[in-house]
Amino acid sequence: MSTLSESSTAPTVTTPVSERPIGVFDSGVGGLTVVSAIQRLLPHEDIVYLGDTARVPYGNKSPETIIRYAQQDVQFLQSQNIKAAVVACNTATAHALEAVRQSYAFPILGVVEPGVEAALAATVNGRIGIIGTTGTIQSGAYQKALLTRRPDLQLTAQATPLLVSLVEEDWLTHAATHLILAEYLAPLQAARIDTLVLACTHYPLLKGIIRSILGDEVKLVDSAENMALALQSRLKQDSLLREGGQHAGRTRIHVSDLSPHFAPLAKRFLGGRVGAIDRVRLES
Ligand code: DGL
Repeated sequence: MSTLSESSTAPTVTTPVSERPIGVFDSGVGGLTVVSAIQRLLPHEDIVYLGDTARVPYGNKSPETIIRYAQQDVQFLQSQNIKAAVVACNTATAHALEAVRQSYAFPILGVVEPGVEAALAATVNGRIGIIGTTGTIQSGAYQKALLTRRPDLQLTAQATPLLVSLVEEDWLTHAATHLILAEYLAPLQAARIDTLVLACTHYPLLKGIIRSILGDEVKLVDSAENMALALQSRLKQDSLLREGGQHAGRTRIHVSDLSPHFAPLAKRFLGGRVGAIDRVRLES
């Protein structure tokens, strides 16, 4: 097992790398759906979360800007002595995953691949729908990854830019949300999809209302759950999984802007206790 020397002056104490935290970042609060899935699957792991709330949304920004922001986000996580990083933002994964992977030596996982694998496993009729931010859909990242594996698939990709704001407003069951979703999902229904990829951190919170429109026969692929599974297998493969023991994993939340709105929203995304939230300054 690889180890890290804690200090050169103190008596030599070595901490296994596997006991370092996992870093997770998103453009804002939405990535906490991924944190929640990681907490459920890997309860012994410590997590450091960064939400770039000062610069959210990423979904309508240019690829160059998203890459710059993502580099700074990972740089912050690296300063927290992490063992691996998760890009919990679909837009940042779509545009910046390759760039950040080239800059850092620790494993960096994105949400696109796990979602693609799950969609391939779920579809029976080969008709898959994808909904996400304008940036994610325009990047073509999901479409390319799916068609590389199965060129015969029929894909219907739909940018759904209004949904992030509706979720942030807590309009999860609101009639207006139903109306907007029905409009967005109509082309996917017409294409007779049997699987829908929820290609945005915020959308797992809309599963109920999406099901009420599409019915139970359409399988919903949730990037949060699939990301946690992919992380587990990568940590295992790299001998970085923390041994269970008595340790109860802790999650520390950092944001680049802290408004009064954040803590209640974070609680809803995390589905539980939030603890202290630190404001950090990211390079701009
Ligand atoms: N986190 C973003 C994503 O998953 C949604 C919010 C944003 O546009 O920044 O694509």
